[in-house]
Amino acid sequence: MNWYDKAIVYQIYPKSFQDTNDDGIGDLKGVISRLDYVKEMGFNTIWLNPIFVSPQVDNGYDVSNYFAIDPILGDMDDFTEMVQKAHHLGLHIILDLPINHTSDQHPWFKDAISNPNSIFKDYYIWHQAKNGDVPNNWGSFFGGSVWEKNPNNPDEYYFHLFDKKMPDLNWQNPEVQKSIADIAKFWISKGADGFRLDAFIHIAKANLDQNSLISGEKYPQDDTFYAKLPKVKDYLANFVKEIKDYKPETFLFGEASSANALNAAEYTRQNEYGCDVVVNSGNYGEVYDDSNPDIPGFFQDRKLSLDYLKKTYVTWESVLAGVSLPTLTWGNHDISRVLDRLNLPVENADVAKLLAMLMFLQRGMPVVYYGEEIGMHGLKYSKVADFTDQRAVDLIKNLREKSFDDETILELLNNQDEMTARGPMQWNNSAYHGFSKAKPWNWGQTQSVDVDSELKNQDSVATFYKNLLCLKKHDCFTNGDYQLLITDRDIYAYLRQGQESEGLVVTNFSSESKKFTLPAGKWRRALANQATRVSNGVITLNPWGCCALELKK
Ligand code: GLC
Ligand code: CA
Repeated sequence: MNWYDKAIVYQIYPKSFQDTNDDGIGDLKGVISRLDYVKEMGFNTIWLNPIFVSPQVDNGYDVSNYFAIDPILGDMDDFTEMVQKAHHLGLHIILDLPINHTSDQHPWFKDAISNPNSIFKDYYIWHQAKNGDVPNNWGSFFGGSVWEKNPNNPDEYYFHLFDKKMPDLNWQNPEVQKSIADIAKFWISKGADGFRLDAFIHIAKANLDQNSLISGEKYPQDDTFYAKLPKVKDYLANFVKEIKDYKPETFLFGEASSANALNAAEYTRQNEYGCDVVVNSGNYGEVYDDSNPDIPGFFQDRKLSLDYLKKTYVTWESVLAGVSLPTLTWGNHDISRVLDRLNLPVENADVAKLLAMLMFLQRGMPVVYYGEEIGMHGLKYSKVADFTDQRAVDLIKNLREKSFDDETILELLNNQDEMTARGPMQWNNSAYHGFSKAKPWNWGQTQSVDVDSELKNQDSVATFYKNLLCLKKHDCFTNGDYQLLITDRDIYAYLRQGQESEGLVVTNFSSESKKFTLPAGKWRRALANQATRVSNGVITLNPWGCCALELKK
């Protein structure tokens, strides 16, 4: 067993967590000042979004120097202090490592475009122009073509899957593979306990001389050419072997946004040097309202379907049984917050508690996005111009061209856009919620909930999370097998069979009260979000009720 088999991960977006020098931007000193809180809540592992030197075109995912901390966040002394204090508290720290691309301001790229004899040219992906135009029709995830002209040679293009200021690395080049492994080893030597491997499923590309056949768009986004290609596994294996040989207990947390359960199994098979776990971004049980074809999928209104959620987890739990831990999460920095996104009656605090219990007591590794543990909502902005991320800018342009009014566009963005999820952490009821004395770099309307008041209240979402994470550490909820129980369609109930104990989770996903017959045995109630009644082996749950029970063997 490795330490990370028991990881309960707290995701911190460093720019939005705690500001200590009142420039409106969160920093590492801020993270240090809140480590006690992270510990008190019951987390044992922190994933920090990128902290390396970056022009911040994509909030740190565009790195220009992998060996130093971005000055807006702090410096190497802060990093060392953060790691030491975290380790002292028994917390592990994992760093977000963008491995698919660098910034166009990285010295490798600057040299590659300006020096005819550059030894770094082959670090990136190039192609000659085709009939004076881009080499193929592949679309970038951030809109437009994946190709951008070499500013110093109009006949030549470089490849970028994300922003044009984020050129993709050429993983075919063994030098690139070695350089990335060296970066990881450097941070391990500085005390990092692991890495989130950003966008790793995209590091291999297909033959560049082919076009996508998807019709309807000039530059279609077509995963066939740049996601989950067979070579990804080879590159990954080389990297993992280097890292695990260097320090075996380093935790590798692979980000694979479009992975299904089979892919996750494939990328986590230990004997073939895979990641330790894989996190995707599609396990929220959402169904989309696609009635208006003008609205792209990402911004469509959505609802949580319990049927779909059950199917998803039954699949992930069965496919990954005996292979690796599924990751259990309601969201991250790339999508609006769970309480804003799924059209649930979230004014009822029981709903936030139910979502947490249902998800995190399953077999797997909880990954909680900062603020979720206090029932925080996203920011609401008052005008479309407040949205500056690339995806939003594209949407605004496209929908205006299709004669949508700004009010409608604003509503779509306020419900779904990622910027809303990147607001300052709400610590207390002072101005800017105790995040900073200055106006936060990302600011809009907030809802009044904060850590101070939540922790004083025994009935709060935060107190529930604390109790829940405590329970998660019990043998059955950490190690037990998972089994779905057959019930009413509005109930999600599962058993966790551990060595020493058995766990049972029953959640009522409806606005009516429901009865559920407990399996035989002397079940003891461990945690519930409201009063529940058990009589003659039948438990009655009120609307949106949830209850976890345990049985000693
Ligand atoms: C991942 C990150 C996202 C980033 C992208 C490019 O998907 O989660 O925030 O924009 O990779 O690095
Ligand atoms: Ca600051």
